[in-house]
Amino acid sequence: MKISIIGAGNMGGAIARGLSKSSHFAANEIYVSDINEKSLQNIKNFNAEIHCSTSNRESIQGADIVVLAVKPWLVEGIASEILDKLDYENQIILSIAAGVSLEKLRTYFPARNAQVPILFRMIPNTAIDVLESFSCITSYNASADQEELLVNIFNELGKAMLVPESQLNAFMSLSSCGIAYAFRYIRAATEGGVEMGIYPNIAKEVVMQTLKGAIALLEANGTNPEVEVDKVTTPGGVTIKGLNEMENAGFSSSIIRGLKASLIE
Ligand SMILES: NC(=O)c1ccc[n+]([C@@H]2O[C@H](COP(=O)([O-])OP(=O)(O)OC[C@H]3O[C@@H](n4cnc5c(N)ncnc54)[C@H](OP(=O)(O)O)[C@@H]3O)[C@@H](O)[C@H]2O)c1
Repeated sequence: MKISIIGAGNMGGAIARGLSKSSHFAANEIYVSDINEKSLQNIKNFNAEIHCSTSNRESIQGADIVVLAVKPWLVEGIASEILDKLDYENQIILSIAAGVSLEKLRTYFPARNAQVPILFRMIPNTAIDVLESFSCITSYNASADQEELLVNIFNELGKAMLVPESQLNAFMSLSSCGIAYAFRYIRAATEGGVEMGIYPNIAKEVVMQTLKGAIALLEANGTNPEVEVDKVTTPGGVTIKGLNEMENAGFSSSIIRGLKASLIE
């Protein structure tokens, strides 16, 4: 299988690096193109076997999957640049551009000679760089096998899930924006630790391990988080005092409001 990634920036670069470690593609089956030579050099420095090119048109030739990993406002121009080189029958087009709907992609990649393109959208998050992304995927004109293939490929770069396009932006808010909110929690908790006299690097380590432990418990027990909270909150104890103080300051409400504020309408 050959995959061609247009755009070797944060996400495209991370996808190329991640795929080179996966079982689906050997490094020399990954093709990356970018106008930015520095981005391509970063890929080459990571793995010299990944093919790098400044020509999008050449890079996509013979690819089974063409990934569009450029900024959303560049997708239309790239589409017209590569359109006549695309083979709708044998190539899957996968866009990771936030906010570029399947409907828009259908206008950028119009049907021709009664052939309709196979289009996918995927929203990963930056943890794709360490094979821990949550990636939501939606498709147009794809077969069940093609959907399964994409989910399998990106399951190796974290967790991937098929979702209806109508919910893609909500998933994006939770996972793609959500990773920033998780970092902010880590920063805030670390600063709390520092205020209580713990060195920052140690406080951060404690917070990170605590989060790992919380996730491991939820995964192992399959419980609702509140069930695990109940196990920690002795009546009249300090944990419930802390939680109530946080809620008084708007903890849950601010998270829900933040998630909704980052929802693309
Ligand atoms: N970051 C996230 O958390 C996240 C999550 C989900 C989805 N996304 C989506 O991922 C996409 C890429 O985001 P990113 O953060 O990876 O952007 P990025 O770091 O700017 O990477 C895009 C790359 O494409 C290059 N490029 C620009 N014009 C090009 C062209 N005509 N042909 C080939 N390459 C070209 C850019 O070069 P220059 O730097 O020289 O312009 C850059 O190296 C966006 O559409 C975004 O919505 C991002």
